[in-house]
Amino acid sequence: MIVELAPAKLNLALHVRARRADGYHELETLFAFVADGDQVTLAPAERESFVVTGPFASSLAQSDDNLVTRAARLFAETVAPVGPLAITLDKRLPVASGIGGGSADAAATLRALARMSGVAHDDPRLVAAAERLGSDVPACLLGLTARGGGRGERLDPVAGLAGTPVLLVNPLVAVSTAAVFARWDGIDRGPLPAGNAAQVAAAGRNDLTVPAKLVAPVIGEVIDVLDGLGGARLVRMSGSGATCFALFDTTADRAAGRARLSAAYPGWWCLETALT
Ligand code: C5P
Repeated sequence: MIVELAPAKLNLALHVRARRADGYHELETLFAFVADGDQVTLAPAERESFVVTGPFASSLAQSDDNLVTRAARLFAETVAPVGPLAITLDKRLPVASGIGGGSADAAATLRALARMSGVAHDDPRLVAAAERLGSDVPACLLGLTARGGGRGERLDPVAGLAGTPVLLVNPLVAVSTAAVFARWDGIDRGPLPAGNAAQVAAAGRNDLTVPAKLVAPVIGEVIDVLDGLGGARLVRMSGSGATCFALFDTTADRAAGRARLSAAYPGWWCLETALT
């Protein structure tokens, strides 16, 4: 049996540069990961099965079209043969929420199958499978703080910020990534800044914040509330939302922020974690 964590992905900054002819957008982003995530468990079995457990299991259809089962099929087709598998996805993080979710689950599935089959993490066939599964899957496969270009698949690791205390907050509104990109206004607001992760995060933006607020206005409230907590070094939306993050200098500041937030907004999902 192989157990693989699917760490949540954050976009510490996300600059949208252009609409492409293929329907995707040209991005410059800073990917980072936190210490918590969903969990994928794989075991060889007599016949195939796929079960979703955990607090957010009900948000996912237990269908064959899940990114986890798609990743397993693609691995078997393009990387190495695998027999029938019993797969369990423990869905601990909100779905359609800008922190990787399905992409992290797919990448964890690829990592688990690579381990099971003795395939290297950076095997080009594994990376190609990741690219086919979704724009964020290559970054999640790598799992390191990295600048991302193209659709997000051109990756360049950068140092910094490991251990930074983070608060993740989601108002429990699912947001469609395609719907948010469709509302981007087409204005290139400039490249991702140069520097280490802290410098890029501090000087960067998330260009999807405005279009995401059009899709889900509550995102504006989440950002205002996190800003109003005080003590956060940086507050920003991740990906296409609705999850927003606050970076803190100390775990005590993070705990104080969480306590205030949970008291005022008990219906919002909130997780105390740290960048890895
Ligand atoms: O690649 P993925 O399937 O995760 O992307 C979901 C949707 O988000 C795409 O169908 C596209 O509408 C939008 N997208 C985009 N530009 C990107 C990444 C995603 O327009 N760089």
